[in-house]
Amino acid sequence: MSDANGRFGNSADLFDSRLGLGGKAGVLLPDGPQIDPLKITLDQPDDFDGWREAARELVLAGVPPMSVVWQVAGDDGELFGSEGAVPPAAGGEPMFSVPKPFIDLAKAAICHSEPQRFALLYSLLWKLKANRRALEDRADPLVDRLEKLAKEVHRDAHKMHAFVRFREVEEGDGTRFVAFFEPDHHIVRREAGFFVRRFTTMRWSILTPELSIHWDPATESLTEGPGATRADAPDGDPLEETWRTYYANIFNPARLKVKAMLKEMPKKYWRNMPETALVAPLIAGARARELEMIEKAQAAPRTGGNIEGAWAALRQEAMSCTRCDLFRCGTQTVFGEGPLDARIFFVGEQPGDQEDLAGRPFVGPAGQLFDAALEKAGIERSTTYVTNAVKHFKFVLRGKKRIHSKPDTAEIEACRWWQEQERAIVRPPLTVALGATAARSLTGKTLTITKAREAPLTLADGSECWVTVHPSFLLRIPKEERRREERARFVEDLRRIRARSEELAAA
Ligand code: URA
Repeated sequence: MSDANGRFGNSADLFDSRLGLGGKAGVLLPDGPQIDPLKITLDQPDDFDGWREAARELVLAGVPPMSVVWQVAGDDGELFGSEGAVPPAAGGEPMFSVPKPFIDLAKAAICHSEPQRFALLYSLLWKLKANRRALEDRADPLVDRLEKLAKEVHRDAHKMHAFVRFREVEEGDGTRFVAFFEPDHHIVRREAGFFVRRFTTMRWSILTPELSIHWDPATESLTEGPGATRADAPDGDPLEETWRTYYANIFNPARLKVKAMLKEMPKKYWRNMPETALVAPLIAGARARELEMIEKAQAAPRTGGNIEGAWAALRQEAMSCTRCDLFRCGTQTVFGEGPLDARIFFVGEQPGDQEDLAGRPFVGPAGQLFDAALEKAGIERSTTYVTNAVKHFKFVLRGKKRIHSKPDTAEIEACRWWQEQERAIVRPPLTVALGATAARSLTGKTLTITKAREAPLTLADGSECWVTVHPSFLLRIPKEERRREERARFVEDLRRIRARSEELAAA
């Protein structure tokens, strides 16, 4: 067996091997006669270990790719070739190893539904045996093809993380959370660990057409069962109502981008997600609603319906966000807070160490400076909504200290969705970007604070956005005199913001 570093056992000179095949299975040797290829049957469609073991033996025995046919146990259809043992390896040579990226690629690509995946991987392994750097040749169509397969598997996994929706089911011995999901590829076993880590304390089952997996926290065991249909999954639970309310509340027909929406949430998943029951009717009525919305724009109430429930559902969903890798960092998602009819909506950068522990924005040193400045400017923080562009604390460990690390553009973009949903619920007439990260999240552009703070911007929904410095910047200024000046400027910005907010309220 090869190990995690990708060693594939004794090396054989692949092209010079002239092996005795023991008459068990026919192979096509490089210059040999055309005879039956060797049929390899794997236990499961995602059987990486089985493939690796067979592939290693085949390579060592010098069996070229064209002489192997691969199948999965239980697959229909007669494959050309004879079932049989792999011929013995040419002995005496040292282990050969494959680069780690090949193992990662193979582990992902093997989960693809492409029937040729095993053969393609074996062809690449064959190449790697002759040239350890074969994987680096991006122009090689084989490498390209396998990378595409792996990418599609990763994408499918991402969809599964995002779109599995559990329904609560009461069973005789307690609650079980059950979800039905239809992946495109054989990813369920591969992704099981993700759900175990995420929902460790819940008893859950994920049903898919190919197989079902069940997690029992009492015994900490994950078991497999047969495939299921959607009819096997329960319908509805109270959470669904909240999600529907949420979508109905935040749906803004003027900003409807069907293509983007479909890309993020392909239609095939809609059936399993309670909130999407609304999507088709909402799209169908979008134009009419748009006109209605324009008419009512001025008078539209900023609360009503179950807006609190919608916000609570959104917050709850954010708690298990995996839109970027930062969910692995920090303790928890730090969501925004404040009244849902707030007229001023502040956006910071990301939670810091103390915010991460408290689960609330702006409670650490930057928060204290922010509070003091708000007070000086005559703004009561409790009347405003305060959130961050990025909802997880990104840090690097230095000794025992967690040192703030700036979120990158991809992380800001991934998290932007939450900020947009929060704004869609609160609908603030005035938004304030505290620093460049917040400005990027709100506008999609990289702005220079000095220039942007001169005049308000208009956001996509037509509301006003003011840009000012981030309170942490004020904490970092070393020279006292400059620090005092900059703090006074910040308070001045906040005063202008307050005045403008009052002006908008009076209009
Ligand atoms: N800095 C931020 O941007 N947000 C917080 O919540 C804390 C510090």
